[in-house]
Amino acid sequence: MTPCTVIIGASGGIGAAMVRRSNARGENVIALARSLTGDGYLDLEDEASIAAGAERVRAQGLEPTCLIVATGLLHIDGKGPEKSLKDIDPAWMARNFAVNTIGPALVAKHFIPLMPRKAPARFAAIGARVGSISDNRLGGWYGYRAAKAALHMTIRNISIEWSRRNDQSICVALHPGTVDTGLSKPFQGNVAEGRLFDADHSAACLLDVLDGLNPSDSGGIFAWDGTAIRP
Ligand SMILES: NC(=O)c1ccc[n+]([C@@H]2O[C@H](COP(=O)([O-])OP(=O)(O)OC[C@H]3O[C@@H](n4cnc5c(N)ncnc54)[C@H](OP(=O)(O)O)[C@@H]3O)[C@@H](O)[C@H]2O)c1
Repeated sequence: MTPCTVIIGASGGIGAAMVRRSNARGENVIALARSLTGDGYLDLEDEASIAAGAERVRAQGLEPTCLIVATGLLHIDGKGPEKSLKDIDPAWMARNFAVNTIGPALVAKHFIPLMPRKAPARFAAIGARVGSISDNRLGGWYGYRAAKAALHMTIRNISIEWSRRNDQSICVALHPGTVDTGLSKPFQGNVAEGRLFDADHSAACLLDVLDGLNPSDSGGIFAWDGTAIRP
């Protein structure tokens, strides 16, 4: 088995930067994304495409030792985060959960069985500080906040189940900071000077944080600077 790093959401601002950084570190990177074609195609809202992506990795004799989900949804096609209760639209809220919560859970379902059982193995999904319930003082953004909070809970659950099979596993959510990508573009107006990271900086920080974690950290949420975020 040849070790590899699997990065899902490789077309995104942070995901693409993670691919660049992991390649520069000499890792064998498998980059998957909805907007790629052929072997690179994976849509989080289509479980069959996730299962097929995992099967291709297995069939190539690859063993993911690091699995990163860098996908996410905040706004698309004129739909965006809700300012108040009156903006809640069931279809949009469900879409938030489909991409931000259920998709990463399905990735874990299909890819974790390919990962080492008796050796270090890491799974990280990019969450968000705004998905911290205890940190929420502004309100709003119902769908995105709730879906990221649910992602954080899902990560915690996976960490518990996985640790029973591999006591060297690490499963965490990562907060990238506020990063200059398409996802944050409409909301960058209020970002304090010097607090908007470029994607390469954020990706490098996140990979360094992941490198520094131990199995005892599994289940947690960690920011780009390595600090733990309370759920
Ligand atoms: N940017 C920030 O300031 C910030 C702050 C906090 C948290 N985050 C989190 O960081 C992560 C990365 O975001 P980003 O800033 O890099 O955003 P981005 O540039 O908009 O990238 C989003 C990625 O998600 C993918 N995606 C969306 N729906 C998908 C689906 N159904 N199936 C597969 N892939 C799908 C996109 O794929 P395609 O391009 O192939 O469609 C793209 O690769 C997200 O989880 C986001 O919530 C970002």
